[in-house]
Amino acid sequence: MAPSFLKSLLVAAACATTATAQIDVDLTSSSSVKNAMATIAYNLLSYYKGNLSGNTPGILPGPPPNGDYYWWEGGAMWGTMVDYWYYTADTSYNPTTLYSLVFQAGPPGNSYEPANWTASLGNDDQGFWGMSAMLAAEVNFENPPDTDPQWLALAQAVFNTQAARWDTQYCNGGLRWQIPLTNNGYDYKNSIANGIFFNLGARLARYTGNDSYAQWAETAYNWTADVGYIDAAYNIYDGAHVEHNCTDINKAQFSYVAAAFIQGAGFMYNYTNGSALWEQRLTSLTNRTLEVFFPNGIAVELACELTASIQCTADMLSYKCYLHRWLAQVTQVAPFIKDTILPVLKTSAEAAVKNCNADGTCGFRWTTSSYDGDTGAGQEMNALGALMSVMITLEPLKAALTNTTGGTSVGNAAAGVGSSITTTNYGPITAGDRAGASILTIIIISGIVSMMVWMNTGEGEGFRLGLFGKGKGML
Ligand SMILES: *[C@@H]1O[C@H](CO)[C@@H](O)[C@H](O)[C@H]1NC(C)=O
Ligand SMILES: *[C@@H]1O[C@H](CO)[C@@H](O)[C@H](O)[C@H]1NC(C)=O
Ligand SMILES: *[C@@H]1O[C@H](CO)[C@@H](O)[C@H](O)[C@H]1NC(C)=O
Ligand SMILES: *[C@@H]1O[C@H](CO)[C@@H](O)[C@H](O)[C@H]1NC(C)=O
Ligand SMILES: *[C@@H]1O[C@H](CO)[C@@H](O)[C@H](O)[C@H]1NC(C)=O
Ligand SMILES: *[C@@H]1O[C@H](CO)[C@@H](O)[C@H](O)[C@H]1NC(C)=O
Ligand SMILES: *[C@@H]1O[C@H](CO)[C@@H](O)[C@H](O)[C@H]1NC(C)=O
Ligand SMILES: *[C@@H]1O[C@H](CO)[C@@H](O)[C@H](O)[C@H]1NC(C)=O
Ligand SMILES: *[C@@H]1O[C@H](CO)[C@@H](O)[C@H](O)[C@H]1NC(C)=O
Repeated sequence: MAPSFLKSLLVAAACATTATAQIDVDLTSSSSVKNAMATIAYNLLSYYKGNLSGNTPGILPGPPPNGDYYWWEGGAMWGTMVDYWYYTADTSYNPTTLYSLVFQAGPPGNSYEPANWTASLGNDDQGFWGMSAMLAAEVNFENPPDTDPQWLALAQAVFNTQAARWDTQYCNGGLRWQIPLTNNGYDYKNSIANGIFFNLGARLARYTGNDSYAQWAETAYNWTADVGYIDAAYNIYDGAHVEHNCTDINKAQFSYVAAAFIQGAGFMYNYTNGSALWEQRLTSLTNRTLEVFFPNGIAVELACELTASIQCTADMLSYKCYLHRWLAQVTQVAPFIKDTILPVLKTSAEAAVKNCNADGTCGFRWTTSSYDGDTGAGQEMNALGALMSVMITLEPLKAALTNTTGGTSVGNAAAGVGSSITTTNYGPITAGDRAGASILTIIIISGIVSMMVWMNTGEGEGFRLGLFGKGKGML
């Protein structure tokens, strides 16, 4: 008995040591950062069960209550993995990444509106998958087989379906948050949905050289500012309701919204050959974002990462990833802002890795100088994003490509046109569906008027803080 008792004590001690040792990484060494990224990426992918038999490819376990993660976060994770390959040249996860991004495309429209997920489908959710496809085109990630939808066409399909939903009936324009009108949040127009549409427009303009995208991007940005979601000091607020003409602004600020606008502004700056308008917008947004979200040079998700407690939903626990990655990418297309952005991302990354254990388990609150015990797929993505923003200073990486500078993805300017989900189109349309559709629309629209009377419970801050659950279907 004694020896085995001793042995278990020794094992326990060894485990404790492994678990509490910080990850060993030298942020001035490319190979050291790559090793740390590989460890964290492995840990991140341990959350992915979509390739096990019986599970749905492309998604993280969920949506709640079946698991922590909504559909969009799978799309966000594969975008992170596209960047993982771009920064490290490690191809280990490329097949899974490619397969996932294609699997969730949602044929026949291939606009990331698959029928399974419409009950919680927001323009932002769809847009996240679209941005990951856009990134794959920009970094020349391996193209899918010819018979599958292509990266550029996927991004164009998302963009086109969203442009078709631009709604001038309320608030002088803008995209609504949710896509099907039966979803809770359909009456809310928010900055992230419009920020992603802007972001995709800016990047498509630069990639394809087609000015229509740039005009849409400018329209989307201007609307967001005109309605007051972007204020004079370049704070970006969450959103407001159509029944109040978008004046009941929920002033919560989330870092990924700012990052989506900054990245889009960077691409508009580049596309316009450095115009004064976009230089000013990019500079101002960046200044304010560094001030708000990086107090003491360390990223904080301030709306939910409170001093006393962390109130972030699983969604929010991943935003720092996008904050770091998208700000890093901007420095390639708007090099003048490099010296403003990169030093802050570096101090933030230094803090981030102190929250990672040697096995690549990373925590959330980077202002502590050790692992805070709060981990998950989002937290792993955050740490990866932080390290990517250091890699950008260590390796001679190619800036986002375009159709004329080596991008090989095949596009289709008409992708998604006519396939966009309208109020009743939840699945593949058959002739019978079409005949019934307009009748159903009338029934739903007359229902929604009375519904709106009692539906003003506000899916603002409380909603996004998870009190109601994101985008639960009303019907
Ligand atoms: C699932 O994907 C992970 C990550 O790429 C990989 O390590 C694992 O081997 C895959 N499992 C199967 C059954 O394909
Ligand atoms: C949709 O759900 C079905 C049933 O769970 C699953 O078999 C299928 O793979 C899912 N498709 C997508 C695109 O999620
Ligand atoms: C430019 O993009 C628009 C979509 O915004 C599309 O309708 C048009 O056909 C495109 N033009 C070309 C030349 O591809
Ligand atoms: C957008 O706003 C800028 C600055 O106010 C203005 O110069 C530009 O003409 C506007 N563009 C559009 C498409 O409204
Ligand atoms: C709604 O707000 C827009 C500005 O966002 C304004 O132009 C419009 O006049 C307002 N409409 C009403 C009915 O108040
Ligand atoms: C940017 O400059 C290039 C090369 O001079 C020119 O062809 C292009 O039209 C310019 N783009 C814009 C949006 O002004
Ligand atoms: C942004 O911040 C930099 C450095 O703090 C400052 O030089 C610059 O004037 C600021 N620009 C704007 C538009 O606020
Ligand atoms: C646009 O991006 C390219 C990198 O692709 C960069 O070389 C160029 O300087 C950028 N243009 C401006 C105006 O900063
Ligand atoms: C670039 O875009 C144009 C217009 O859509 C297209 O004709 C051309 O084939 C594209 N070039 C490449 C290399 O994809």
